[in-house]
Amino acid sequence: MKTIELDFQNVAYIASAGLRGLMIGQKTANAKGGQMTLKDVTKVYNTVVLDRLSLHVDRGEFLFVTGKSGSGKSTLIRLLTMETAATEGQILVDGRDLLKIKKREIPVYRRSLGIVFQDMKLLEDRTVFENLAFVREVIYGRRRDTSQRVASMLSFLGLSTLHKRYPQQLSGGEKQKIVLARALMNDPAILLADEPTGNLDPGASAEVMDLFELVHRRWMTVLVATHDLAQAGRIGHRRVELAGDV
Ligand SMILES: Nc1ncnc2c1ncn2[C@@H]1O[C@H](COP(=O)(O)OP(=O)(O)OP(=O)(O)O)[C@@H](O)[C@H]1O
Ligand SMILES: [Mg+2]
Repeated sequence: MKTIELDFQNVAYIASAGLRGLMIGQKTANAKGGQMTLKDVTKVYNTVVLDRLSLHVDRGEFLFVTGKSGSGKSTLIRLLTMETAATEGQILVDGRDLLKIKKREIPVYRRSLGIVFQDMKLLEDRTVFENLAFVREVIYGRRRDTSQRVASMLSFLGLSTLHKRYPQQLSGGEKQKIVLARALMNDPAILLADEPTGNLDPGASAEVMDLFELVHRRWMTVLVATHDLAQAGRIGHRRVELAGDV
């Protein structure tokens, strides 16, 4: 039987700079949450994909999850977004037990997260600005401050020059930056990303990941699942490697 477990031998843990840690502690989560805890989580599809995985991600932490193809990185993300449920074990997100969240409450739960995947689509018939405004309106309804919030998000991420472009006028890297901006429009305390640089060349990947770092320093807990070891090896972040079947 295939078993996959968290391989503590391969966990690279580099403490983040003390000063920055302090800033994060104050700025993020104290007010807004941002903790995730997995206790003995097992996920079985046809085979055991995750085997008694225990993991704690603290407020304001930036964690890379690596591991070879099939080791369960996406599965871990899908458990956290509640696209699938654990076979056994407990997952707590800011103290909430995901097993106890009712089906109809899942969309509301998801809105408390920022989610970025590899191939996320933007609305092709709307500009960058409209794409961002749209999600904010879906979540909060029509509000007077929507335009201002979109403009400040784009400005914060250094993307203001793209605001009038349509998705087909963006490079892959630019698109992924806008997908990130869009994921932040609901003010999440936790950002979950699955292969956010999956289709990008090394230069564009580094630029996208720089933005993740910027966002992290500013206010949130970030978990990135990736096979991109160049990015996952960035200094200052914890890395957990899921050990797959050999
Ligand atoms: N819905 C599903 N039904 C059955 N098996 C699945 C399902 N989703 C994933 N799996 C299996 O679970 C295992 C882990 O898949 P997962 O997508 O989590 O791996 P991964 O680490 O993200 O891989 P990659 O690096 O290729 O993205 C694989 O063997 C996959 O075939
Ligand atoms: Mg995957």
